[in-house]
Amino acid sequence: MSGAVEQTETQPAAVVARAAGIAREAGARLKEFFAAGVETEYKGDVDLVTVADRTVEKLIRTRLGEAFPGHGIYGEEGTRERLEGEYRWYVDPLDGTTNFAHGFPQFCVSMGLEHRPAGRMADEDGTLVAAVIYDPMREELFTAERGGGAWLNGRRIKVSRIPVLAESLVATGFPSRKRHASPNVHFYHEFTLRSHGVRRAGSAALDLAYVAAGRMEAFWEFNLNPWDTAAGILLVMEAGGRVTTFSGGPFKLDSREILASNGLIHGELVGLFEAMFAGRDLEPIPTPQEFAGQRAARGAKRK
Ligand code: IPD
Ligand code: CA
Ligand code: CA
Repeated sequence: MSGAVEQTETQPAAVVARAAGIAREAGARLKEFFAAGVETEYKGDVDLVTVADRTVEKLIRTRLGEAFPGHGIYGEEGTRERLEGEYRWYVDPLDGTTNFAHGFPQFCVSMGLEHRPAGRMADEDGTLVAAVIYDPMREELFTAERGGGAWLNGRRIKVSRIPVLAESLVATGFPSRKRHASPNVHFYHEFTLRSHGVRRAGSAALDLAYVAAGRMEAFWEFNLNPWDTAAGILLVMEAGGRVTTFSGGPFKLDSREILASNGLIHGELVGLFEAMFAGRDLEPIPTPQEFAGQRAARGAKRK
C-alpha cells in the first residue's frame, strides 16, 4: 500500500467527509427510486427487498472501493469484500425497506467503519471509528468520528438531558423474520405505560441517530445486525450517550440485542429489562375477550 493511500485512509475527518459524499450520492439514488416506485420481493416472512436496496449497495461498494481500496465491506445485500483487512465498513444501503416499499418516507443509508488492528481474534470487536447516516427525504446527514463528536448537517449534536423514563420518548423496532418468536410487544406495552410514548418508525439506524440528536431518549431492539447498528452506535456514543446489551453489559457488533440511551435513563432501563425478564412488575393487559366483556357490560349499564 502506498504512503499516500495509507494517509487518506486513516485520517478520520477525511474518511468521514469522503463517506458522507458517498452516502449523499446513494441517498439521491434512493430518492429517485422512491419517486418512481419499485417492485417488492420477499427475502423471507415479511423481510422485503427491492431493486433499490441492491442497486444502491452496488453503488456504495464501488464508491468505497474507489475511495478506500484497502477497506473491507460487509453489506446487508451480500457484499463481503476484503474482510481480512484492518478496516471494515458495515453498510445498510437502505435501512427502512418496508417503509420505502410502502411510500412511507422514513429510511436512510447507513455506513459505519470499524478498525480491527492486526491480531484481533475473529470474534473480537474492533473499534468503531467513523459513522455516516443519511436521510435523503429530510436531507439530514448525521456524522461522527471517534473522539470528534457527533454532527447533524455540520452542527454538533448531543443526547438529551431528560433524567427519567417517565418524561422520555423512546423507540423500538420489530423483526421481519420469525415474528411469532419475538417477545417485544410485551416490552412495547410496558414502555408505553412508563414513558411519553414509544415510536416504531421502521429504521433502526435513524432511531439511533435520533437518540444521538436528543430527539428521543432511548432505543432498544432484539435481533439487529451490524449493518443496522454500527454507524448509529458511534453516533450515540459520540453524542454523550450509552450503548449496551439489555443487561447493561458491553455491546458487541454481533450482540443483536441493543439498548441505546442518553445515559441518564440507562440504569432505569436496565432495571426494567431485568424485572421484565424475571416476570416482575408487569402491568396486566386485558385480552381482547376480556375487553369485549367489559365493553358489553358498560353498554348494558347505559341502556
Ligand atoms: C430494518 C429496520 C427496522 C428494524 C428491523 C430492521 P431493513 O432494517 O431497521 O426498523 O425494526 O429489525 O431489519 O430491513 O429495513 O434494512
Ligand atoms: Ca436495516
Ligand atoms: Ca436494509
